[in-house]
Amino acid sequence: MGKTDKKAFARSCAATLTMNVKPKTNLTRIASMMLGILAVAVVTGCGSSRTILQQDAAQYPEAVRLYQNGCITCHGSNLQGGIGLNLQHVGSRLTAAQIRHRIEVGSGPMPAYAAPGDAILTSAQITALTNWLASKK
Ligand code: HEC
Repeated sequence: MGKTDKKAFARSCAATLTMNVKPKTNLTRIASMMLGILAVAVVTGCGSSRTILQQDAAQYPEAVRLYQNGCITCHGSNLQGGIGLNLQHVGSRLTAAQIRHRIEVGSGPMPAYAAPGDAILTSAQITALTNWLASKK
């Protein structure tokens, strides 16, 4: 090997080394970046700038809090539904009395929130949820 050959060899060796090392660091960086994006997506409800819950929290604080505690698992962080139905326009589909009735007696997998002697929510809490959902036209 001549002097230049050695230099070239050393250079290609370094290149191989960086190639071996860099993808790993990049992968780790990409992985943690993806985790970060995922965390943001989960927190904000996947992409949209503000969820319905975030928009309504100031005007309907109690309803939003109750929804986050008991309804979000089935009806979604943006009222988009899942196990439960989409509630984004439930106020134009059902009257307030019908919404209240649904919350009180449940349906299918949805619990009855006002079961006699075993109420999950108080009447006032159901009123708060009903008023809020009825406004979702
Ligand atoms: C375990 C899952 C689950 C939970 C928890 C749940 N729901 Fe439901 N919800 C459903 C399902 C499923 C339906 C559809 C039932 C049907 O069509 O018979 C439904 C229907 C409804 C409806 C009627 C929608 C329509 O268009 O007919 C309203 C209103 C509603 N839920 C509100 C709530 C509220 C408010 C909470 C929390 C206090 C809640 N739900 C908690 C599963 C759930």
